[in-house]
Amino acid sequence: MEQTFIMIKPDGVQRGLVGEIIGRFEKKGFTLKGLKFITVDQAFAEKHYADLSAKPFFNGLVEYIVSGPVVAMVWEGKNVVTTGRKIIGATNPAESAPGTIRGDYAIDIGRNVIHGSDAVESARKEIALWFPEGIAEWRSSQHSWIY
Ligand code: TYD
Repeated sequence: MEQTFIMIKPDGVQRGLVGEIIGRFEKKGFTLKGLKFITVDQAFAEKHYADLSAKPFFNGLVEYIVSGPVVAMVWEGKNVVTTGRKIIGATNPAESAPGTIRGDYAIDIGRNVIHGSDAVESARKEIALWFPEGIAEWRSSQHSWIY
């Protein structure tokens, strides 16, 4: 079953949006497979965003991610990578549709509340980076009726 890596960024935590964001993924029908509340250091944040290291906003982005605790999660379900990105909304909140997380709760591209993997392959890499200890296997007994 497909998995994605979702992170509530420091502004999302500080603004009290953790429950709201988790609720949206739960109510959609996806399964929470991993969750940790963690403050990462600069080297770790640089690794997470390594693909963006040449971008002019890279240093500011890293500074933002290390500025406070984040909620790192693994969510599972059919097409969860693509659907997760739809739930999150466009990168720039000015262009995110109302009803998406960024469309409803963010204004600034540099404070856009949440991260979600952009492809199955990047999800695999990000889950390995954030959850090196692995993800515990579980299935709820009611799970089969979701699909
Ligand atoms: P990116 O991976 O392009 O977007 P997404 O998070 O939607 O996958 O960029 C990573 C983060 O970098 C993005 O969430 C916010 C920040 N960012 C900026 O601060 N300025 C920018 O111009 C862009 C493109 C991104």
